[in-house]
Amino acid sequence: MSYPYQIRSAEQYQAAYKKSVDHPEEFWSDVASHFQWRKPWDKVLEWDFKKPTIKWFSGAKLNITENCIDRHLEKLGNKPAIIWEPNDPEEYHRVLTYRELYNKVVQFANVLKNNGIRKGDRVCIYMGMVPELAIAVLACARIGAIHSVVFGGFSAQSIADRLQDAKAEFVITCDGAYRGNKEIPLKGVIDDALVQCPFVKRVIVLTRTRTAVSMIKGRDVWWEDEIKKVETQGNPDCAAEEMDAEDMLFILYTSGSTGKPKGVVHTCGGYMVYTNYSFVNVFQYQPGEVFFCTADIGWITGHSYIVYGPLSAGATSLLFEGVPTWPDAGRFWDVVDKHKVNTLYTAPTAIRSLMGFGLGPVEKHDLSSLKVLGTVGEPINEEAWHWYDEHIGKKKCPIVDTWWQTETGGILISNMAGITPGIPSFATLPLPGVQPILVDENGKEVEGNGVSGNLCIKFPWPGMLRTTYGDHERCRQNYFATYDNLYFTGDGCLRDENGNYRITGRVDDVLNVSGHRIGTAEVENAINMHTGVVESAVVGYPHDIKGQGIYAYVIYQGSSDHDDKLVRQDIAQTVARIIGAIAKPDKIQFVSGLPKTRSGKIMRRILRKIAEGETDKLGDTSTLLDPSVVEEIKNGKL
Ligand code: WTA
Repeated sequence: MSYPYQIRSAEQYQAAYKKSVDHPEEFWSDVASHFQWRKPWDKVLEWDFKKPTIKWFSGAKLNITENCIDRHLEKLGNKPAIIWEPNDPEEYHRVLTYRELYNKVVQFANVLKNNGIRKGDRVCIYMGMVPELAIAVLACARIGAIHSVVFGGFSAQSIADRLQDAKAEFVITCDGAYRGNKEIPLKGVIDDALVQCPFVKRVIVLTRTRTAVSMIKGRDVWWEDEIKKVETQGNPDCAAEEMDAEDMLFILYTSGSTGKPKGVVHTCGGYMVYTNYSFVNVFQYQPGEVFFCTADIGWITGHSYIVYGPLSAGATSLLFEGVPTWPDAGRFWDVVDKHKVNTLYTAPTAIRSLMGFGLGPVEKHDLSSLKVLGTVGEPINEEAWHWYDEHIGKKKCPIVDTWWQTETGGILISNMAGITPGIPSFATLPLPGVQPILVDENGKEVEGNGVSGNLCIKFPWPGMLRTTYGDHERCRQNYFATYDNLYFTGDGCLRDENGNYRITGRVDDVLNVSGHRIGTAEVENAINMHTGVVESAVVGYPHDIKGQGIYAYVIYQGSSDHDDKLVRQDIAQTVARIIGAIAKPDKIQFVSGLPKTRSGKIMRRILRKIAEGETDKLGDTSTLLDPSVVEEIKNGKL
């Protein structure tokens, strides 16, 4: 594979950027011409951010799997598409060549069809990080079914909410998943979720852990048995469904500032072009290299940079089942050494947690294969950046700090490895096609350099979300209504004297805990479900490893002789049940009241300051209904 649109110098970046702004349609149609379309587009772009309507490559027909697999078969058929490293380093790893991946995807696509799944059906995928997860995703795309992957750490309740919202009648799962020394009973969690989802017709279960599971007659079938049926049917092929460029490819739920997660919708054509373009340019991927993105496929990073971006580029993508700290804190470095990884793409939280183990685990392994390092998901602090640079990259690997979101589909702001300079803690420059703008609270553009504001994007790019599933108005409200004619990211941002962007964090009620997005309202709703809890307010606070920790203020009126420690534990357990362990509060402070304005609104600004330990900077508290609660909360701070 060659990438004629790969930028190879800073001058080429400037030229490409300029062209993408001056002639966006020409720019993107040039890039898109290097993909395999069944029918070309009638129009490159139609858009209106007010509605919003965004259409890229309208009228074009394609199937993304033909671009991710079929078109590579002739030249890369025997080259590895996926290298799978299991949780337990003693278990044998697996390599799937493009030919083998093709065979497995078409086979499983036939399984889906045999089970009554058709184009447009929603399929929920709840699996651990095994190659079959990628196969399931691609098999859905092959037949035009819309996949909705749910991260394996989410609870039964979260799955039920998502199944109901997506009206998904099909589920693909595993008996269980391995993560470090834990075994997660995925099928059991699905069974609990399905109590609330009688409309689910079929559950396909892959064997991984051999945990005991209940299989309900007429509803649940084994992956392996279904494959055998397809084999005896003797049709090894599965023609790819012809999709419109704007047909839905997938739904991925993510947290916003309101209670209910939103189903972000991405479509086939634009998403494919954008993930590929950003992959090839940001990481400067070269054919034959091994690319290791440590994210879970349950998050957008895994969708775009384990599956679709790398595979559409004919790359070798490493899929890792385990965790960075098991069997020891050298596991990432062991994987890099074992598979001669060339690019490592991970989250600042992982780097910070591994820093804590010192250099011992790093020095045991040969990291000389590394050429490029990347980070994603949250701001990276300078200390972590320098550690990554010195001890992992040995000062010879550019670090790309990639800013983007579930909604953006792919990386929007980042340096390009070895092409444009990296600056610690700066995402630096927009990719070609991306037009950032900073605005003040009133939506007025903040012009010039050395300024900060709320980050918006003023022109569409092919990978952007098209809607939120089942509720277009919510999409408009959330992203396009805050500022006229702009896509609002929810992030605060600074632009330095040279025009480099530095993301400063969310300006809405969304937390970023270990690089995972969690809405404060969601956590509050879960806490409020716990018996005895009258009211709660959740804010973030700086956490050394997680970036942000969850701080909950709780009014509790349980029995008078309750044990605070046990109640805290029970509340945390309730949150784990309702949302998942990732949303458990790190700190729970019991309070007798919350700071509210006369109109009854909780003043989170004050709670945030207290949680951050900046109790001397509370600002004006005179508008509070009862200013004395602030004193009490300050004195009780954890
Ligand atoms: C944050 C993850 C600083 C940001 C791909 C954004 C970042 C949210 C960076 C999206 C970065 C992501 N520097 N902050 N390089 N990358 N973020 O949807 O607040 O899980 O809005 O997508 O993560 O999180 P999401």
